[in-house]
Amino acid sequence: MKKGLLAYESQYGSAADVSYWIRSIVGLDQHLDVKKYNQILTVEPYDYVIIGGYTRWEKPHKSTYQFIERFHDELAKKEVAYFLTCGEVDETIVINMPGAPPHISSGRSYFLDTVEKFPSIKPVTLGAFGGRQVNRYLKSKDARLIWLLGKTMPPDKVGWTGLDMWESLVPERVEAFANDIRTKILSLRPLDDVKQYRVFWESLQPGNLLDPSVKKFSVRPWTITQNEKRCYFSRSRFKGNLSLATSLLERWAQENGLELKLEKKTYYNTYFRAQKSEGSKAGLIHIVIADVIEDPGNVHVSFRCYTKPSARKAAEDDIQSAEKILWADGRKVD
Ligand SMILES: Cc1cc2nc3c(=O)[nH]c(=O)nc-3n(C[C@H](O)[C@H](O)[C@H](O)COP(=O)(O)O)c2cc1C
Repeated sequence: MKKGLLAYESQYGSAADVSYWIRSIVGLDQHLDVKKYNQILTVEPYDYVIIGGYTRWEKPHKSTYQFIERFHDELAKKEVAYFLTCGEVDETIVINMPGAPPHISSGRSYFLDTVEKFPSIKPVTLGAFGGRQVNRYLKSKDARLIWLLGKTMPPDKVGWTGLDMWESLVPERVEAFANDIRTKILSLRPLDDVKQYRVFWESLQPGNLLDPSVKKFSVRPWTITQNEKRCYFSRSRFKGNLSLATSLLERWAQENGLELKLEKKTYYNTYFRAQKSEGSKAGLIHIVIADVIEDPGNVHVSFRCYTKPSARKAAEDDIQSAEKILWADGRKVD
């Protein structure tokens, strides 16, 4: 039997909850030690290592980097999987904030930097699970930063400003990750009855301590259009897969005289930029298509244009025509 180690760090407890949840789905009959980073002296006896942590500023917290650096050469010889908890799990997001060019972020994309930094470690699978945060109990520095973030976060991003507490855990994502460990590392069948372990999720804590009527987890709408001064933003979903979505977008670009440029491709999403061939930055459209684990059979797509409203009418029309093509032939899902 393969021997596994799940190494984790957790600031406020979510990554710890998730670690034991994964351990249960992988199977209590399996050898899988669950240890915090600072309990680990060696990874040498293990066949595989699952490395879990939490997010800070669009990356795993530095404790995760330090753990990988500490055991790097051994890890490079083993099967490895990464997971983290985070506040934002929407993998169609493009972040455009001062200090960095627009880029994909959120969910598993928080590992882009890690994977680039440690190329000899090739994770078998990635997991990104919503974390849980009780704002009134944050350390004071964290509380200040979260307050500031809430004030500055653009409207096409998370909407938790004012919430005393948020929780964005999607149970299907933990279950799919743990089943990836079973199938891809242990050659076991996926566990069918994964829901029996949702006891790790179904706590009695409400999603907002100030308002007991707020549900524990309320899903943000999957379909939304926002015409704001800063950004024209539209997000929707349709029946299909990433390769169908790519070919439909290529057709749209060709028919509308747009140049479609691939920016980043992962196994779960693809980021394109589209613009009229004239070359001016005005009207640049950011497009992300993503496979969403809890919504199988559908592709999610987001369009963003940051050009000022008076100069982006053509881009808005182009986005609407792209959506018409993606949604045609009964593919639209409301
Ligand atoms: C200072 C600070 C920065 C954060 N930055 C991000 C971020 O960039 N993206 C994100 O999704 N979540 C972010 N979070 C939320 C964390 O992901 C969340 O606290 C974490 O998932 C909780 O895990 P834990 O309960 O295991 O400590 C941030 C939280 C704090 C306090």
